Amino acid sequence: MDTIQEKKLSSFAIDVMDGLRADPKYLSSKYFYDEAGSRLFQQIMHMPEYYLTDCEMDIFKEKGDAIIQAFGMNGQAFDLIELGAGDGLKTKVLLEKLCQLKKDFTYIPVDISATALNDLEKSIRRILPEIKMSGLKGDYFEMLSHWQHQKPKVLLFLGSNLGNFSMEQTRNFLSELRKVLNAGDQLLLGLDLQKDPEVILQAYNDPHGLTAQFNLNLLTRINKEMDADFRLELFEHQEVYNPDNGLASSYLISKEEQKVTLKLTDETIRLTAGERIFTEQSQKYSKTMIEEMAQQSGFEIVSWFSDQRNWFTDVLWRVPDNSAKH
Ligand code: AVJ
Repeated sequence: MDTIQEKKLSSFAIDVMDGLRADPKYLSSKYFYDEAGSRLFQQIMHMPEYYLTDCEMDIFKEKGDAIIQAFGMNGQAFDLIELGAGDGLKTKVLLEKLCQLKKDFTYIPVDISATALNDLEKSIRRILPEIKMSGLKGDYFEMLSHWQHQKPKVLLFLGSNLGNFSMEQTRNFLSELRKVLNAGDQLLLGLDLQKDPEVILQAYNDPHGLTAQFNLNLLTRINKEMDADFRLELFEHQEVYNPDNGLASSYLISKEEQKVTLKLTDETIRLTAGERIFTEQSQKYSKTMIEEMAQQSGFEIVSWFSDQRNWFTDVLWRVPDNSAKH
């Protein structure tokens, strides 16, 4: 007979069970991006309330040439590695400019979603048939081990993706990253800046209900992949922003007392009325926070590229020449 102990659970199932057994309950935002979730996120990026994408797009359009100049790669070949590439809408602007300027680079998009990666490679080939490109599917830490170290690297970590990490995860991530980089390697970080809380809440609790669908899709995914019976109509999306620390947090609130059964692990989870499942954090940064992060993880800041309203920044970091390996 097939007992629970004998079943080999996926890391998704293990993480979900850990989070649902915990108090308070949580689920990891990295699991948003199944096929449906990736499509929903693309729709989110297209809505006017989600200003992050538009800001970064403006920065690349207006300051793309200056950014490329700051990379300082004149004749040399380099790897352009993008972490969490998604649909690459903004990156295309940069890639087109790099090609126009005849830079010798290989574009290496890394993404956790195979769907997103395939769509991305296809759509880039269409506009830039000559580009050197080789995608990697995996999560950021997995991918760190796949690296080759010969060529100088420029890493792209755009769209304020870093904001999904807690401050502790951020510190670990940046110092891990620092370890696999060499002197002169660079990191272009797209970060959302602290601003009017109303603007932030509109972006993460939009009137179209897309962010709510995106958040609730996590439960649909658990229903599908873990044979569970979450009733979506009994949950509500909630967004909270704390201007004191710049933390925007997403929750799924249980509207009433209820039980949910996950057949895969043969377990029943109880939720009280009003109980929240924490699903995502999206950190909003101040300039001081960014300077501290760079300094603590062993990078120096080369330059800042921000939009007109100063809502978003793409900041270029560099591994100093004579820095000891951490
Ligand atoms: C892809 C992590 C940058 O936190 O702003 C969008 C994801 N969540 N709306 C973000 C997201 C809700 C997004 N990142």
